[in-house]
Amino acid sequence: MLRILALGDVISPATVAFLSRRLWSLRREKQIDFVVVNGENAGFLSGIGSRDAAILLDGGADVITGGNHTMAAKSIYSTLDASDRVLRPINLAEGVPGSGYTILPARDRRILVFSALGCLFMEAGTPDPVPYIERVLAREAGRYDLSILDLHAEATGEKLAAAHRLDGKISAIYGTHTHVPTADETVLPKGTGYISDVGFCGHTGGILGVKTEVMTERQRTRLRFSYTEAEGPFRAQGVLFDLDETSGKALSVKRFEFGE
Ligand SMILES: [Fe+2]
Repeated sequence: MLRILALGDVISPATVAFLSRRLWSLRREKQIDFVVVNGENAGFLSGIGSRDAAILLDGGADVITGGNHTMAAKSIYSTLDASDRVLRPINLAEGVPGSGYTILPARDRRILVFSALGCLFMEAGTPDPVPYIERVLAREAGRYDLSILDLHAEATGEKLAAAHRLDGKISAIYGTHTHVPTADETVLPKGTGYISDVGFCGHTGGILGVKTEVMTERQRTRLRFSYTEAEGPFRAQGVLFDLDETSGKALSVKRFEFGE
């Protein structure tokens, strides 16, 4: 059995520091073999910088997945090109820096990790990610043992439909982006572990990681206020996938969170 921890959107550099203080001991305590962290907001809702990516990787993450904010910080472009542990979504235009997938070791197994964007209520013109993923699965066949997909998308129905299209082809699929965890964790009929959204990692005292008054005034006035980070204790939300290392199928899916 191989255990993967997938964590939701990391909201800020302070959250990066919190995770880096906790992840290695958590890995030992929970016997976690591989950690995937969605880092698209690690620069506080404006992409991720190279420094925060390095801190996360040193701090216990094996790979960082992306989202609609990943390309916001140009400083990450060279890291995206140079590192096989920092991903941007796979379904971006040809020639965009970086890659949307990678193959990394976990114990004696090879894990194919995807980062992908949804289409509904996201950046207009984002293409269906499933064909991009299927092409890579075919191209890399024999070069990986297990696979996992972070589907960064707003609509739960879109994520679940994509998961059914990929059921049995990928070991585990989970959603990020909404910052709110769902309670629909399951193993799909052909063996893919699934949850629509895992939530986020950051301060608990605001609205999706942002200070409450900023968000309520923004809604009331429709004016653009600059975001301020929420206060309150840190909480990290994610999911634990236990995978059969021989068949590549999911054995169990469990929501998981830890805090200060
Ligand atoms: Fe996002």
